[in-house]
Amino acid sequence: MKLFIDTANMAQVEEIASWGVLDGVTTNPSLVAKEEGANFKDTVIAMCGLVNEVSAQVTGVTFEEMKVQADEYSSWHKNVVVKVPMTVEGLKTLNYCSAKGMKTNTTLVFSVSQAIMAAKSGATMISPFVGRLDDLGMDGMDLIADIMEAWSHYKFDTQVLVASVRNLEHVTRAAKLGAHISTIPYKIFTELPQHDLTDKGLKKFMEDWETVQGK
Ligand code: E4P
Repeated sequence: MKLFIDTANMAQVEEIASWGVLDGVTTNPSLVAKEEGANFKDTVIAMCGLVNEVSAQVTGVTFEEMKVQADEYSSWHKNVVVKVPMTVEGLKTLNYCSAKGMKTNTTLVFSVSQAIMAAKSGATMISPFVGRLDDLGMDGMDLIADIMEAWSHYKFDTQVLVASVRNLEHVTRAAKLGAHISTIPYKIFTELPQHDLTDKGLKKFMEDWETVQGK
């Protein structure tokens, strides 16, 4: 499973990339808005120097607007993935990008039918938002299970990117379902290597080593 970080913060990307576990980055306009003073283009290009896939979201509404942004973003760096919303205009944009060999990520996917539409349009990745379904009292991971089941019947090349991740359980379940990618917020990323028994075990090893040294 590929692991992406869900952030527009360069320092967070640098930190997780230094662990040797990071495959990509997803940004969105809300995440970019949190990084006051940062230049979006410069940040995306810098991130592309650290990982192979960096999603940059178009903000146009019409196909014509999205197409212009897709051309511009993909000219910044070969590792840019054009992120396109799951709308009919977005489908036209995915089809356009696919024909031009640009990588794409379809954002705001909430149903199997949307997943199929995006895949048929040539999307490289689709992003079902599990946390936002959880927020409505549903189990967002059920959507991942349903999409992976549908994918098992066909030969879609489109990768399923579990987005809107809120906890470790989302990441674990994504892996067990065989989802291709999870995009994970920084705080949750820092929890992935942790386990209480690791901490307790290491503390005991250190105490015992102190005892050996004292002999
Ligand atoms: C990723 O590509 C999405 O933009 C992101 O995971 C959305 O997460 P949120 O629902 O926590 O805003």
